[in-house]
Amino acid sequence: MTGTNEKVLKKLEETVGKDWVVTEREFMENYLQDETPESVRPSAANDLILVKPSSTEEVSQILKLANQEKIPVFPVGGRTGLVGASVPTEPGIILSLERMKKIEIDRQNLMAIVEAGATLGELIEASEAAGLFFPLHPGDEGAQIGGLIATNAGGVRAVKYGVVRNYVKGIEAVLPTGEVLNLGGRLIKNNAGYDLMHLIIGSEGTLCVVTKAVIKLYARSKFSATLIVPFQRRFDAIKSVQAILQSGVVPLAIEYVELKEINQAAEHLNEEWPVQEGKAQLMLILTAISEDELLSACEKISEVCEKNGAGETVIAETKEEQDKILRVRSNIYTTLKPQMIDILDVTVPPSRLGDLMNAVDEIARKHETHLPVYGHAGDGNLHIHIMKEEDKPPDYASKVKREIYDAGIRLGGVITGEHGIGKIRVDEFALTIGEKELSLMKGIKKLFDPNNILNPGKVIPSG
Ligand code: LAC
Ligand code: ZN
Repeated sequence: MTGTNEKVLKKLEETVGKDWVVTEREFMENYLQDETPESVRPSAANDLILVKPSSTEEVSQILKLANQEKIPVFPVGGRTGLVGASVPTEPGIILSLERMKKIEIDRQNLMAIVEAGATLGELIEASEAAGLFFPLHPGDEGAQIGGLIATNAGGVRAVKYGVVRNYVKGIEAVLPTGEVLNLGGRLIKNNAGYDLMHLIIGSEGTLCVVTKAVIKLYARSKFSATLIVPFQRRFDAIKSVQAILQSGVVPLAIEYVELKEINQAAEHLNEEWPVQEGKAQLMLILTAISEDELLSACEKISEVCEKNGAGETVIAETKEEQDKILRVRSNIYTTLKPQMIDILDVTVPPSRLGDLMNAVDEIARKHETHLPVYGHAGDGNLHIHIMKEEDKPPDYASKVKREIYDAGIRLGGVITGEHGIGKIRVDEFALTIGEKELSLMKGIKKLFDPNNILNPGKVIPSG
């Protein structure tokens, strides 16, 4: 960027105000990385400018300028991603929408109109204050709405209502030309032509910059419970997931955890995990409109699980206890992160989850290692961790990863169901999609972003 620096800098300062343009490296450290494990995280480039616009109009002017000057732009949200998607890997502009955080709740339509820089925590809070509920919980509440949409975030509580894609009803987004798109709206049904909105959801900042969204909310169920069901055998826990899904009860969440790692996460937070029986456990979250409905759903689940070899189900009903359980579950990754090389998020059809577990066990045995596993069992989505280990050959992690990917694909799955492609999975993207799909995606990228200024080097392999 050197050369155009002075002119560009001046224009950026004129657009957003001097206070909102940062050029000193020490004041942008937090923007140079995300939550990707250090061993695989891409490094940030030098020669970066951090810009914090306050309106869609300012975003539009920034993109127009960058496009004219062919300067890469790296849109960032809360930087909670796990595949390096928001790391600014080339000299250019880091675009943070953190000042754009207005939230309006439309109670009549059960929707929230949210600017991209509002955090997940703020959305949850605003919804609750209006007596409404945003069911999805993609882990870190510091994630921003723009990032949740750009990555089509998943997480806990996606079984009943789906992932972010299922909540987004409208989007305002800015193209590299500075033109503003308004897609969808406060609508439950919308069938007008190609669905550009869904193309943008999950595009990881490579097509346009999302500035605002309409998000579906739900009425708050008065009654909720979190269940922990212990099993001695992993196989029984997995079999129960199928049985629960077929029982007619639809939980918000069906998570699989293992005692060793969940205890580590609890310890990390200075908490205690409430169930110490059974090394494989299911954690379920249920909501209902009456106490009777909740109780019979809980009974049904423990009955179904007991038939499949479960011990006694523990039910947490107070908000405090339920929040604690979710907090501990959401912290497994952070707890394991320092000892981790990589976290995978292979997803298979729910009925093949047991086969995936068995394949992982076999790979672990072959490489004489332990691969901690937990995840969104109700979605067929498992997090398999490759941990740092001494005395392993240098290609150990990449071999294990490849074998896990191959197993997932063999079982009808994909290499990522949740974390996306970002930077660190670009080379493996072709394993999971066909040549024709990839060439269509390249064409779409070119159509939206002919100068390749938006998040270059992410998602789409070059060439
Ligand atoms: C989780 C993140 C790592 O499920 O996706 O905790
Ligand atoms: Zn996850």
